[in-house]
Amino acid sequence: MKLFRVAATALTGMSSLCAATTTSPQTTLDASRPVAHEAPNTVAAAFIPGLDDLMTMLIQPRHVKLYYAGMRKNWELAAFESRELNAALRRIGQAIPRYRDNGVDETVASMIAPAIGSIDAAIAAGDSKQFIKAYAELTSACNACHTYMEHPFLVMRVPEPDAKNSVYPDQDFSAGGSKP
Ligand code: HEC
Repeated sequence: MKLFRVAATALTGMSSLCAATTTSPQTTLDASRPVAHEAPNTVAAAFIPGLDDLMTMLIQPRHVKLYYAGMRKNWELAAFESRELNAALRRIGQAIPRYRDNGVDETVASMIAPAIGSIDAAIAAGDSKQFIKAYAELTSACNACHTYMEHPFLVMRVPEPDAKNSVYPDQDFSAGGSKP
């Protein structure tokens, strides 16, 4: 971002912009700030997602989908979503090993892994009651980590159980699928 700004500034000769963006954070949203198509010779900075981005992109959707698949007793899909959730958490731990002096992998292992284990046991047994209990446990574990990592205001909850199409209206969560 810094490189881009410096290069863009050199190109357009707007040295005052550079000074403004480094001294006042508000001006970074200013409409006068150069954008990529106005500076064709600069190389766009690679997008490096932060932990919040990865949570929103990889974890939140799986958390939701796992729920709806489980509530519709589609155990095959629920097992898949649980595996995806687990694998995504592991990949996040690799991409961002430490967050504010806390090991992400260790925290996932100690706080979330047991809850995912309970989910998997419920799925394997095809037991809805057990699934609902384990899902609540998992959701509490998400919140425990948010609190532990100084974001207690990020509160996850169990979704609405009978939302007709959930928040993913393009996916059918019932086993076998139903015709459109
Ligand atoms: C290892 C600890 C940890 C675990 C486990 C964890 N989170 Fe997070 N999550 C965080 C941290 C820390 C942030 C804030 C990161 C930031 O601000 O860059 C975050 C951010 C989020 C956000 C972004 C909020 C927003 O509105 O942008 C969502 C959504 C989220 N988490 C969902 C979940 C869910 C669902 C689970 C459980 C399946 C979960 N998280 C498990 C640490 C964790």
